[in-house]
Amino acid sequence: MPEIPSAEQKPPYYPSYFPDLAKIIRIKQEAMDAVIELEMAGGRALGHMPGQFVQVSMFGYGEIPISICSPPGRERFKLCVRPVGRVSKALHEASEGDWVGIRGPFGRGFPVEIMEGRDILLAAGGIGLAPLRSLVQYLRDHREGHKRIILVYGARNPSLILFKEDVDAWSRDPGMEMYVTVDEPDESWSGRTGVLTGPIKEEIEIGPVHTIAAVVGPPVMYRFVAAELLAKGMSKRKIYFSLERHFKCGIGKCGHCQLNGIYVCQDGPVFRYSDLVGLSEAVEAWAPE
Ligand code: FES
Repeated sequence: MPEIPSAEQKPPYYPSYFPDLAKIIRIKQEAMDAVIELEMAGGRALGHMPGQFVQVSMFGYGEIPISICSPPGRERFKLCVRPVGRVSKALHEASEGDWVGIRGPFGRGFPVEIMEGRDILLAAGGIGLAPLRSLVQYLRDHREGHKRIILVYGARNPSLILFKEDVDAWSRDPGMEMYVTVDEPDESWSGRTGVLTGPIKEEIEIGPVHTIAAVVGPPVMYRFVAAELLAKGMSKRKIYFSLERHFKCGIGKCGHCQLNGIYVCQDGPVFRYSDLVGLSEAVEAWAPE
């Protein structure tokens, strides 16, 4: 195991810049992504909440932000990594037993305290299921606090469905209402087809006053999901989006993720829709009038 610096050895003024070590315990291939299970050195809990992210450093390659896809309250945590760049490809090629650096958890996640006692509508597109998985598992861990847990998940095709075992288990869970749809079905697929706004518009009845929605996916989908939720009578105050940005420092210092006057890494990545209105760089490109 690499040497772990003591608290005194860490830089005194910017401890959040200094990574802690975590060991890769297991790597599982999920569609085109790798789900990496990690344990912090010394066995301490990561201490995150659903929707937060960590900065992961692969020694010799660099550092990238990754959403945490497992719920709090576990000894270990999981990250879902898509091999799209130098660091993420190196992470894909890592082995069980390797060590990585972890900074965080950072950012503001989903408002689990506001969600208590409400119906929860979750909408995930593509790899957006990864950060939302943390919230799904959290809500299932605390299901006595919620009336309904509805999950709408859209994938491009059946082979790209993420967390297939979880999706199957959630579909069998009588405490969850699942709507899974694919854009491009193949002969193996007998479920819904089309984009995820289809079930939201045509199949799901909600009480807009008692429902909180959380949406994660490619920004292009937000405009359409927001329009359907508003058409159902939901207020912008009850709709939450997780914004994607390429974080560098992760702690509101470098300005890399700045949109208008906000730092997405620190003020988000989860935002209430009503708080984004007027932030032209953040939302006007996709938000309905
Ligand atoms: S990533 Fe540096 S300010 Fe947000």
